[in-house]
Amino acid sequence: MDDYQGFIESVKSKTGIDLALYKEAQMKRRLTSLRDKRGFSNFSSYFQSMITSQELFDEFLERMTINVSEFYRNPKRWEVLETKILPRLLQSNKRLKIWSAACSTGEEPYTLAMILNKLVPSGNFSILATDLDKAILERAKVGIYTDRSMKDIPSDMLQKHFINDGMGYRVKDELKRLISFKHGNLLADRFDTNFDLIVCRNVMIYFTEDAKHDLYHKFSKSLRIDGVLFVGSTEQIFNPNEYGFETEDTFFYRKKM
Ligand SMILES: C[S@@+](CC[C@H](N)C(=O)[O-])C[C@H]1O[C@@H](n2cnc3c(N)ncnc32)[C@H](O)[C@@H]1O
Repeated sequence: MDDYQGFIESVKSKTGIDLALYKEAQMKRRLTSLRDKRGFSNFSSYFQSMITSQELFDEFLERMTINVSEFYRNPKRWEVLETKILPRLLQSNKRLKIWSAACSTGEEPYTLAMILNKLVPSGNFSILATDLDKAILERAKVGIYTDRSMKDIPSDMLQKHFINDGMGYRVKDELKRLISFKHGNLLADRFDTNFDLIVCRNVMIYFTEDAKHDLYHKFSKSLRIDGVLFVGSTEQIFNPNEYGFETEDTFFYRKKM
């Protein structure tokens, strides 16, 4: 077995993270540059040190996951969610169950929370937010942001839900309370069921075709009938029927059966 394949096996048996389900060329390039930077000439010695050093392991995890996110990322799509998809879901179900899968630093679930808070002021909904990277989840829970990820937040939402304390913008506790952050691996976990909406954006592009195929099936199973999967703007599903979906709008897939 070659050095990188051996590394994939070792990481999987030690952590449950299966690097083989991520597109190889890109992943290998990212990890090789990190390994070289730390002075290891092969993956085998890098792994041996990684399992005894929390710092090396955290750094590895940070490099393999790409955490860039933004509030209202691709604003037109969020407008469709707010004006078309959610009103339709609310007609048939008064308590929506929502999941932000691969939520990164929190911009996506906080965007959901702002929109839901507007449409359902009673707070009668739930938002689960999960990510593979525990360190990133801690940042999401803290909820402090700088301008970079905030350019598309409508000004009334910014006024209402953030405090500018000089260091950056802090999400108010009322909004934080609407979200439950949890650790989770999309490529290994069993999923909860009966979701009305699953938002999974800008992570599936890193997965192999086989991994994506399995994930679409799993998402379909965990949505209730007429529930919706909302994907990223480069992540169109080409054969939604195969997974029991129909296209409700661009990048929104409604579960049929
Ligand atoms: C580019 S961010 C996307 C954030 C957000 N969904 C958005 O669209 O702005 C990708 C996130 O996927 C997470 N991720 C990568 N592999 C994952 C996996 N197997 N299970 C869960 N999350 C994963 C990373 O930790 C990272 O936070």
